[in-house]
Amino acid sequence: MTEGETGSAAEAMRLRVLAVGDVIGAPGRSGLRRILPRLRAELGVDLVIANGENSAGGRGISLKTATELRDAGVDAITTGNHVWSQPDIEQVLADDDLRVVRPLNFPGEPPGRASVTLTVRGHPITVVSLMGRVFMTALDDPFRAMDAFLLDGGAGTDPRPLVVVDFHAEATSEKVAMGWHLAGRVAAVVGTHTHVPTADARVLPGETGYVTDLGMVGPVDSIIGAPVEQALRRFLTQRPGRSGVAEGQVTFNAVLLELDAARGTCRAVRRIDLLDTSAPPDHRARSQGGSRG
Ligand SMILES: [Fe+2]
Ligand SMILES: [Fe+2]
Repeated sequence: MTEGETGSAAEAMRLRVLAVGDVIGAPGRSGLRRILPRLRAELGVDLVIANGENSAGGRGISLKTATELRDAGVDAITTGNHVWSQPDIEQVLADDDLRVVRPLNFPGEPPGRASVTLTVRGHPITVVSLMGRVFMTALDDPFRAMDAFLLDGGAGTDPRPLVVVDFHAEATSEKVAMGWHLAGRVAAVVGTHTHVPTADARVLPGETGYVTDLGMVGPVDSIIGAPVEQALRRFLTQRPGRSGVAEGQVTFNAVLLELDAARGTCRAVRRIDLLDTSAPPDHRARSQGGSRG
């Protein structure tokens, strides 16, 4: 085999996965539509995952918004604490084409599925949705839930299967802990839910890609997606109030994971953060209903 053939064989095993943060309401969906197709081509992305739990008015995901995300180029959609907020969520979860997954560790027998496996250039990649429980609803233990999931999925086999986990959690400590818990056992752990991108993207020992939070695709002049005046008023008064989706320029936060399909590992992680300047800045507090997180 020549050097060129060796190089192309390695390239055939290299998969580029773009993991995108929580997509917030109509501004997030339209920002995604404007940015993602170009980015996909520019970066040579093989698979796009995005968190859709805030895609419907900032709260939940519906058939309409899941379809929009898919049409913008998202291959698999993860969720989180707002997953049950829209009335048609069971239809969304049952729709095989939309590939929307709900967190793995809800107790009882929740509808839908927690993971989806896609075949990308001949290589299966499994995307899992998982939720933390520090400063959140007390779900089943996410650490043991992942242990059980990986046992079922053939973890420990060589090569290990390609698994990417969206860990939707509030506390940075719980997310970092999950990164270390799964290091060497999955291809990547990417955090969501805070809507604030973190600067700690790295490859953990065991070749597991990691970032504490992807961030969001949503209005930059906002309080994690909500209009500044509305969200600020709640902090200033300690009284509940309306919470909608802000407008204006959209920030696009994601990481690019370079995976090695031959080994089930991650070789590199790089943040991809863009500002979509095609929409005008808007500092007014305008409500469309819903809430954040
Ligand atoms: Fe969120
Ligand atoms: Fe959330």
